[in-house]
Amino acid sequence: MDFRIPYQMVKPQVLSRKIFLRLLSALITSFFLWIWYRINEYQFKNDSQLEFRHNDDIPGGLSYFGKYYLFRQENSVTAFSTTCTHAGCRIGKTYSSVLQCGCHGSQFEASTGIPLRGPAYKPLQKLDCQFDSKSGQWIVRM
Ligand code: FES
Repeated sequence: MDFRIPYQMVKPQVLSRKIFLRLLSALITSFFLWIWYRINEYQFKNDSQLEFRHNDDIPGGLSYFGKYYLFRQENSVTAFSTTCTHAGCRIGKTYSSVLQCGCHGSQFEASTGIPLRGPAYKPLQKLDCQFDSKSGQWIVRM
């Protein structure tokens, strides 16, 4: 008996140019997506590792530091982001107890971050702020 497959039944697998170009473009796209993902991951790690230290001599009320501000009431210090919750503008420096966004006019109560006037309706992001008794400093983590 002859168990060989007849020549007509074995179709040769040839990679057409069209399929090859599709595979190549998928490979290149995947490569760039992977690079984009790694860059974003790296930036996110760097942003999430931001840590700021302040000595315990923070004055009462609002102290502005660009990306965030501190609000001191007696022995407690609270930190809030200065990124407006409406469309992401940076809220400018102020010395009053009300923060006003220069983009669309939202106002926030400095001690709580709660919006007093729209269009923003979400409160400002509260940041992690703890007193380190070893160093005697307030540590703000973003
Ligand atoms: S971005 Fe602040 S009010 Fe619109």
